[in-house]
Amino acid sequence: MVQPRSTRWKGPVCMFAGIAVLVASVRLVERDVSAQGQVASAPVASVTELMQAMIIPASNTMFNLPRDPPTDDEGWDIVRNSAVILAESGTLLMREGRAEDSEVWRATSNALAEAGEAALRAARARDVDGISDAGNLLIDSCEVCHEKHWIR
Ligand code: HEC
Repeated sequence: MVQPRSTRWKGPVCMFAGIAVLVASVRLVERDVSAQGQVASAPVASVTELMQAMIIPASNTMFNLPRDPPTDDEGWDIVRNSAVILAESGTLLMREGRAEDSEVWRATSNALAEAGEAALRAARARDVDGISDAGNLLIDSCEVCHEKHWIR
């Protein structure tokens, strides 16, 4: 059966339009990835700034909690947010351009993240003993890294 001209042409036109959109979006994705790559290779904060802005205040929340546990939702929100910061800061310490090339750095960054995860589980369960245990894991990670890497 012979189709009218307009119908014969619609298919290929749609296909070409589709390919053009696909190519354009692949280019966009490539640009995004390379932009992320640039950010990943150049961390903004120094290790000391990470300590001061995130790791010290968040870990103090955990160290102080057993003496003065939260009594309301807001208090536990602060504890949970601090645990999130600690759990994620291990990854930040391991970023290219920031991480030291040592087994101690890798192991203690990982231990910090795991202690943060333990604190997060305890914060969600409002488990004071769990926070206290996570605090002990935290202190180990701080001390072992500092012993090797603290620049005095
Ligand atoms: C993977 C390694 C590593 C881990 C883990 C780590 N730190 Fe640090 N921290 C450093 C380094 C390196 C410095 C010093 C940076 C410098 O002097 O150049 C530092 C510095 C500090 C300082 C001094 C900041 C200042 O004002 O000079 C404190 C306080 C500190 N860390 C607390 C902590 C606490 C608390 C933890 C654990 C909850 C911790 N750190 C975990 C590597 C680490």
